[in-house]
Amino acid sequence: MNLTLHVWRQKNASSAGAFKTYSATNVSPDMSFLEMLDVVNAGLVKKGEEPIAFDHDCREGICGSCGMMINGRAHGPGRGAATCQLHMRSFKDGDTVVIEPWRAKPFPVIKDLIVDRSAFDRIMEAGGYVSAKTGGIPDGNAVPVSKPDADEAFDAAACIGCGACVAACPNSSAMLFVSAKVSHLALLPQGQVERKERVLRMVEQMDEEGFGNCSNNYACEAECPKEISVTHIARMNREYLRAKLT
Ligand code: SF4
Ligand code: FES
Repeated sequence: MNLTLHVWRQKNASSAGAFKTYSATNVSPDMSFLEMLDVVNAGLVKKGEEPIAFDHDCREGICGSCGMMINGRAHGPGRGAATCQLHMRSFKDGDTVVIEPWRAKPFPVIKDLIVDRSAFDRIMEAGGYVSAKTGGIPDGNAVPVSKPDADEAFDAAACIGCGACVAACPNSSAMLFVSAKVSHLALLPQGQVERKERVLRMVEQMDEEGFGNCSNNYACEAECPKEISVTHIARMNREYLRAKLT
């Protein structure tokens, strides 16, 4: 396949960015999207041009490093997959593909398609941990947790912190991410010690970072590569209210 790419290029956080057009030629449908960009970059390096900067690490949908807007969709077309899990068979010969970084004020562009997601780290530092001594893995497994709670906690724990929910939301809300972390720990016995402080601190930090509010748009859930449910946002709101009142 041959494709035309319009890629956002931006030298650094302080310089203005712009779209640049590139040709991706002889693209195999079996290539991943990131492999296609690797090939484009190899061509740019050969010509003495600066390669397109993008975040990636595991390339297996696990680490949460990758992420870009592809034709206006966070992580591109399809559902339940991170950018690194997207394959070129999702495109057709002759397609034009527009590639941009996450667009959200709390995620400033560092370079090209790489944004600074340290706001998420600061939210986690504010409360996304447990102080309970849970021992080694066998001890942890010996703590009884009801099946429905374990399943819901596990679903929430699948969040990889990619930021697609923020990028997809018209308000740049981080509530899906924060609620996944709050839910995960609120549902487990190990998370009870800091349960109230956690939700209060994490929501406070989320607001301080400048993320917007949830207006039930549901774009976050639709674009989340781990299909985290918005029901976690409802749980976080309940947790927050309960913590505030007590
Ligand atoms: S909730 Fe989903 S979209 Fe948001 S950071 Fe977690 S995995 Fe990414
Ligand atoms: S590179 Fe790790 S999730 Fe995509």
